[in-house]
Amino acid sequence: IDDVVILAIESSCDETAAAVVKNGRQILSNVISSQIELHKLYGGVVPEIASRKHIEKINQVIEEALEQAGAVLDDMDAVGVTYGPGLVGALLVGVAEAKAISYAKKLPLVGVHHIEGHISANYIEHPELEPPFLCLVVSGGHTHLVIVKEYGEFQILGRTRDDAAGEAFDKVARAIGLGYPGGPKIDKLSLEGNPYAIDFPKGKIEDAPYDFSFSGVKSAVLNHLNRCRMQGEEIVAADIAASFQRSVVEVLVEHAISAAKDYHMDKLAIAGGVASNGALRRGMEKACQENGIHFYYPSPILCTDNAAMIGTAAYYEYKKGTRHGWDLNAVPNLKL
Ligand code: KG4
Ligand code: ZN
Repeated sequence: IDDVVILAIESSCDETAAAVVKNGRQILSNVISSQIELHKLYGGVVPEIASRKHIEKINQVIEEALEQAGAVLDDMDAVGVTYGPGLVGALLVGVAEAKAISYAKKLPLVGVHHIEGHISANYIEHPELEPPFLCLVVSGGHTHLVIVKEYGEFQILGRTRDDAAGEAFDKVARAIGLGYPGGPKIDKLSLEGNPYAIDFPKGKIEDAPYDFSFSGVKSAVLNHLNRCRMQGEEIVAADIAASFQRSVVEVLVEHAISAAKDYHMDKLAIAGGVASNGALRRGMEKACQENGIHFYYPSPILCTDNAAMIGTAAYYEYKKGTRHGWDLNAVPNLKL
């Protein structure tokens, strides 16, 4: 059979990214231009600034991806692009670029769901991983527990009712003065803290065993900070970080393991920016070992937003016959 080489583009949030992916799982290049330094000034992603920066960077990033892959546009078999969910203005830049290339070079256009991309990141370093498996997607915008039934076919078991896991990390980090993005900073600071110093609540929802809620633990952290300030008690940021992280990680692990058992899944993967979290990886690894479940997680570079994962997802969509027309549009709240 012929090789399928895909140029993939990702611009849903604050990373401008392009990659060249061969046969779904072989990454020929993976270029990411991050805007984090720019958005740090504002304590979070500013949509208008993100869109403008994507426009400035996208051509350069694509050229670099092709060059590193030792390829030109004419070598591509298709163009894959994230068309949702995400920031509409940011998404539009990638979608417009992908449509232009696809039109000019007469290449099939394959729109990709961003979350399907995050999940697909697991295929890249685990050639043996195939559906069905359970996947916990934890990013700055999403928290989903899904069964990957087939390539590109999902059954959602649970989701967050309020904040996404990464959002909670970012908000708590901001409250204890760590800056943006907070997840990696809490991860690091937690190593110096006592995770049992403070008993923050674990977000559980009655009658929805796989759903999540992180606004409660976030409020509890804010209340704790207020109490310390009012009573003149010392604020130990490392203990707060470690205790908050324990509360979040325990819930993520418990829900994922009970879903794996209930649905007889012997493979469990994690995906999204928060999947880089050390405590989550260790906690999930241990729980999976105890329950005879194979545990999969991507390298940190494939956990955060990148285009390689979009190329992998686009490949499996391409194989299924997914083709988009010139009317492909950005869909900010695209459902999985
Ligand atoms: O997947 P991602 O790059 O972008 C979205 O699609 O949202 O995820 C970014 C999120 C941010 O909230 C960031 O704080 C969080 O992932 N994050 C982490 C870690 N690294 C990134 N959260 C906890 N621990 C980490 N090590
Ligand atoms: Zn993402």
